[in-house]
Amino acid sequence: MRERIGALLDEARAALDGADTPQSLEALRVQYLGKKGPLSALLRGLGQLSAAERPEAGKWINAARVEMESAFAAREAGVKKAARALALAGETLDVTEPREDYPLGLLHPISTILDELVDLFSGMGYEVVEGPEVEYDLYNFELLNQPRHHPARDAQDTFYIEDNIVLRSHTSPVQARTMLSRKPPIRIISAGRCYRADEADATHSPVFHQIEGLYIDKGVSMSDLKGTLEAFARRVYGPEVNVRFRPSFFPFTEPSAEVDLTCPACKGAGGCRVCKGTGWVEVLGCGMVNPKVLELCGIDSAVYSGFAFGMGLERLAMQRFGIPDMRWLFEGDARMLGAGRGGSAQTEGRRGE
Ligand code: PHE
Repeated sequence: MRERIGALLDEARAALDGADTPQSLEALRVQYLGKKGPLSALLRGLGQLSAAERPEAGKWINAARVEMESAFAAREAGVKKAARALALAGETLDVTEPREDYPLGLLHPISTILDELVDLFSGMGYEVVEGPEVEYDLYNFELLNQPRHHPARDAQDTFYIEDNIVLRSHTSPVQARTMLSRKPPIRIISAGRCYRADEADATHSPVFHQIEGLYIDKGVSMSDLKGTLEAFARRVYGPEVNVRFRPSFFPFTEPSAEVDLTCPACKGAGGCRVCKGTGWVEVLGCGMVNPKVLELCGIDSAVYSGFAFGMGLERLAMQRFGIPDMRWLFEGDARMLGAGRGGSAQTEGRRGE
């Protein structure tokens, strides 16, 4: 009996070693530990033994069952562990696998320039305010010292919605709105779309973008304007840039100036296409707010003075990114996007046009 049990245990152990799945393990369990298995048969046969042999044989059989069960439990743990390792290996992610190539969304050159200017001027204490694109003649012209039939209106001929409502021809009406609704000190910038009755060509567009600045306080002078615009020029065109003020005329500023900066393409050497050979590019209009405008907008010109400036974002973007034709900025050509990444590579494909 003892030998038979020993042989049975050896046989079961050998079979267990070969079981490597939960299914084969279960089959062996039925085979060795089930009701029809050899240990059950031995138990059933106890009755045929003599009363003296029976207790000892019973002990052996039970001991064998306990041993076999623990062998099964050990094997089961091993099989489970192996199955889990296998599953994990199948789920491994290859983090070095190259991803599918897809195009990145990038900012339009106008947005790039605008973000940069908003960042610069807000750092200097300017607040961003907005104004409507469909504007009353009053704000766009009259309060800016351009009465009806004033010849200066010619330069800013725009689209009329009604007799007294226009598509704003510049961002300057936001100046008038702000002066009427706030008390000095005022330090604001405002940007957005503007409209003029111009034919679209390489340097004109009936829709374009401007950014406007206005600073009003006691004792604001032309040198404050110069310092502010020099900081702007260095930020946008680099620390080497030279700034040139040229006397000019705007009905809403007096004195007025146009500001030229060193050509970003030829660095002032001249003879290049961007600056038409002069070494300078024209960038903005500015001046001291005309006392008449201050008075029209309810600000005492004996106490306060201020400066204002306004510039076209298209021109800045074209100079910065070497875009030769303003229409490219409006055509929705995806090659324009990415200009803000610091190069003109994306426009290369269009250069031959
Ligand atoms: N509004 C002027 C233009 O569109 C620019 C400007 C703004 C000039 C503010 C002076 C002061 O040409």
